[in-house]
Parts: sequence; C-alpha cells; structure tokens
Amino acid sequence: KSLPSGLEIGKEIVIYNEVESTNSKANELLKQGYPSGTVVVADRQTKGKGRLGRKWISPSGKNLYMSIALKPDIPPKYATLLTLTSVVACTTALRRYTDIPVMIKWPNDMLIDDKKIGGILTEMKIEGEKIKSAIVGIGINVNMTEEDIPEEIKEIASSLKIYRGEDFSREILTVEIIKEFDKWYQLLEKRQRKTIIDRWMQLSGTIGRQVKIVLADREIVATAEAIDEEGRLIVKLNDGTYEKICAGDVTLLRA
Ligand code: BTN
Repeated sequence: KSLPSGLEIGKEIVIYNEVESTNSKANELLKQGYPSGTVVVADRQTKGKGRLGRKWISPSGKNLYMSIALKPDIPPKYATLLTLTSVVACTTALRRYTDIPVMIKWPNDMLIDDKKIGGILTEMKIEGEKIKSAIVGIGINVNMTEEDIPEEIKEIASSLKIYRGEDFSREILTVEIIKEFDKWYQLLEKRQRKTIIDRWMQLSGTIGRQVKIVLADREIVATAEAIDEEGRLIVKLNDGTYEKICAGDVTLLRA
C-alpha cells in the first residue's frame, strides 16, 4: 500500500529484518543525516526496549516495531505532548483499520478490554531550550497468539489477533499510522494543543476511572480527572485534593 506524497513523516522509510531496537537504529540514522520524519521498521528486535527500563518482547513475523526520528520544533516543556500526540495518531489509525475500540491508558498505552496491545517509548535529547532529537518508538501486538505471550504477562497483554480471531496486515497498519502521525504531528507543530488533548481524552479509558499510581516514593489511589496542557495527568485524591502526575505507572482499578 503506498503513501501519499508530500508527507513529512515517512519521506524515508528504512526496513530491516532484524535490529537490536528500532529506536536505537532511528537515532543512528538521524545522526548520519537522515531527515526528520525518517521511519524505521523491523520484522524483529533482539533488544526491544519498553518504558521504565523494561524489555519489549519482539518476535519475528507477528508484530509491528517502528520508530520515527524527529527534530520537533516545540519547546521542551511540551515534550510529553509529543508522546500523547503519537498515541492519539496510533490509536486513531488502529481504530480506523481494525474497527476495534482501542483505548488509551495514560500516558501512552494502547488497550483492548483493559489489556495492553501496544505501547510507545519516546527517547529525547534536550539541549537548552530546544529538543535536539526525539525518537518515537511504537510497538503493537498485531498477530501474536495466546501461545506467543509469556506466562507472566498473559493477564495484562493481548493482541489484535487474539481479540478478533483473524490476522491483520502489518504493512497496511504501518501506512495508516504514518499518515495519521503526519496529520497529528503537524497539529502539534502548529501549537494546536487543545485539539490533541481533546482527542486524547476522547480516546482515553483513563479519564473518570479510579487509578492506582506507583510513584518513585509512594503509591496513590485516585480518580483520573483530565490531562493538562503539558500532558500531565490530573487526579483527584479521596480527600478532595488534586495532584498532577508527570511520570509513573498507572493501573486502572475495576469500576
Ligand atoms: C512500553 O513500554 O509501553 C513502550 C514499548 C515500546 C516498544 C517499541 S517497539 C519499537 C520501538 N523500539 C524499541 O526498542 N521500543 C519501541
């Protein structure tokens, strides 16, 4: 499936059979002079990285592993918004192509029936008042079966195929994500932050739910209320006070 011309994202698409991590590869290519918007795709990863230092299971022939190398023209204080923008783009593309009600869990997990089917790892270099580079790494469990999912994460992980019982095309999904990413990234560069946050909230399964948040130094249980302009999660604690969460692990509690 081909891409429309004139997109900033996907001007260069580099495809590998195997890499350690598409994020690391995309970073190398950017340093070698590839343009902002370069996309790296691989069939498998030997050292797939997840958030918070976790690893990302990356078998061959099943899933989508891609990274987009960017030089975003946005102030560092909106860095988190880049990841929110990316997850909005991916979720919108996923919904359009599969018709599955994929939801977002803050900040950037993609869930079906509260099980994770995709995630995003953004790695940035910030120098002074500029974001020098940002690598947005997207992992989506497309055609993994129950047997492919390790025992330890069976309760919390799933795939498009497990949900629907049929295979999906990684190629079509890649093209849909690139097109959608181009559109939302342009909005971000044009400072259309409210449009992005509104869409994020629409797609979010987090807002309005009771959540448990594991922070560096403590754990809190609260109701997720909204996202602010910088992409922080605003939660209301049981004593009526509010907190803004920048980083942490959020678990959705049963309604
Ligand atoms: C998460 O922990 O939720 C983020 C997972 C991100 C995985 C993707 S797969 C493609 C890219 N390359 C990596 O090494 N990680 C990201």
